[in-house]
Amino acid sequence: MTKIIETKNLTKMYGKTTVVDKLDLAVTQGSVHGLLGPNGSGKSTTMKMLLGLLKPTAGEIYMMGRPMNRQTRVDVLAQVGSLIEQPSAYLHLTGAENLRIATRLLRAKPENVERAIRLVRLEKHMNKLVKDYSLGMKQRLGIALALLRDPQILILDEPTNGLDPAGIEEIRELIVSLARDEGRTVLVSSHLLSEIEKMATELSIIHQGQLLFQGTQRELFETKLPDVFVETTCGSQAASVLQALQPTLVPGGVMVPNLSEQDVSDLCVQLVGHNIPITQVVRQHRSLEEVFIGLTGREGLQ
Ligand SMILES: Nc1ncnc2c1ncn2[C@@H]1O[C@H](COP(=O)(O)OP(=O)(O)OP(=O)(O)O)[C@@H](O)[C@H]1O
Ligand SMILES: [Mg+2]
Repeated sequence: MTKIIETKNLTKMYGKTTVVDKLDLAVTQGSVHGLLGPNGSGKSTTMKMLLGLLKPTAGEIYMMGRPMNRQTRVDVLAQVGSLIEQPSAYLHLTGAENLRIATRLLRAKPENVERAIRLVRLEKHMNKLVKDYSLGMKQRLGIALALLRDPQILILDEPTNGLDPAGIEEIRELIVSLARDEGRTVLVSSHLLSEIEKMATELSIIHQGQLLFQGTQRELFETKLPDVFVETTCGSQAASVLQALQPTLVPGGVMVPNLSEQDVSDLCVQLVGHNIPITQVVRQHRSLEEVFIGLTGREGLQ
């Protein structure tokens, strides 16, 4: 799969403090890539380096296969839309006026403007002053501004920060559709596990500037296998047959830890061989937070 953003050894130091530490990031084209980490872990700093807003202390950045340097930067960044920290709209102007100004500055095509407004569903609010927008509407305007040049890549720094659950859901749906329906790649940061979990097709987890994990959610969950619940009316018999696997007898069946897919299949064969009826085999859900604790051995993200 094509990597549309790649960093090699990307590092940012302030004085002697390293805030982004030899980061090797790889973002797959067409993915919603969640950059997850607690406050101060280096998410915004990483994104600002990708956008040429901060100069890396060391390391390289490749976007769409091209190295980012002084010669390529303007060209490459024309394909990247971003929303970093707060959306930067003029509050005393309407949404339409803000878009008009940005369109002129960015030399965006008029058809992109219409499309961006439609995508973020702000058609009805274009003539309202931005200061009267809700936070969710401001975020959506920020995303519309990021879409003006019809970019292949969107870099969104905590776009759901401060929103209520309905606002979060709207932004989440928008992000998913930008990738799924429009074929764009979205790199989105968050310190909220629940956010990233629901929209990202792949994940990077950073902590103190270092990459702890990178891959799909499935791969993440496989780094520490969640328990498997075997539903059966013969729980104690099942527990004794599976004794070597250290099962726990629970209401409605047994819980078995640390099984690979092959182990689960072997377990079923074993139980059926002993005429033990199985009504369900379910891998227990493990939240990203639990996985994070497993990866860092520290407290969770929130
Ligand atoms: N200009 C600066 N000078 C010195 N240190 C800085 C500067 N900017 C950021 N830092 C430090 O770099 C670290 C990473 O900051 P960054 O803003 O990238 O984190 P973050 O993951 O985006 O956090 P948050 O979730 O709070 O937005 C923090 O410890 C921060 O204090
Ligand atoms: Mg930040």
